[in-house]
Amino acid sequence: MTPDPISKIAVLISGRGTNLQSIIDAVQRGDVNASIAVVISNREDAPGLERARRAGLETLFINQGAFPTREAFDTRLVQELQGRGVTLVCLAGFMRIFSAPMLEAFGNRMLNIHPSLLPAFPGLHPQQQAIDHGVKVSGVTVHLVDGVLDGGPIVLQRTVPVLDDDTAETLAARILAEEHRAYPEALAIVIAGGWRVEGRRFVRTRPDPVTFS
Ligand code: GRF
Repeated sequence: MTPDPISKIAVLISGRGTNLQSIIDAVQRGDVNASIAVVISNREDAPGLERARRAGLETLFINQGAFPTREAFDTRLVQELQGRGVTLVCLAGFMRIFSAPMLEAFGNRMLNIHPSLLPAFPGLHPQQQAIDHGVKVSGVTVHLVDGVLDGGPIVLQRTVPVLDDDTAETLAARILAEEHRAYPEALAIVIAGGWRVEGRRFVRTRPDPVTFS
């Protein structure tokens, strides 16, 4: 399927929000043709909320502890997003798996970023997993979200080397620098349209490249 033009995005965070910052910066530069309608956190103390406020964005904390089920929390999230006319959801360090209400409302309209070359090393501590496995190359994946943890069609991947003396921290820092380029670039591709999902594959159907500074 080819999506309609997308312009209003929401960014969902749980933590420091450096990927959120890269999206804010890209929107402000004009590299991503969208507005950020709201930044939502499931943690009240997420430092990323302060980044959003500094940028003059609306922020919202939704306390997942106040909801009896995953579905109830997701239903509330859908209400907040649809109430603001959000058409594309960006997960940026949002530590939570979605249930049917979110997946049905935003199927193929939700992106996630993960610091490994998926399908290798999904879940927690992917940088440590990469080091422990002994891979020589790792990187970042931006993908559409489906019901599988760190699953979903892959929009874009970028690689970084894994060095012999890397720790999880040094590898994470190298990947993070690449994340901050990859997320805005993937967003620009998705927003530009001219793509469809074939099985597991995200396929560009329009040959002209997205120009990205
Ligand atoms: C990033 O490494 C992202 O790939 C992962 O969680 C981390 C979030 O970092 N999903 P930040 O909050 O964007 O700085």
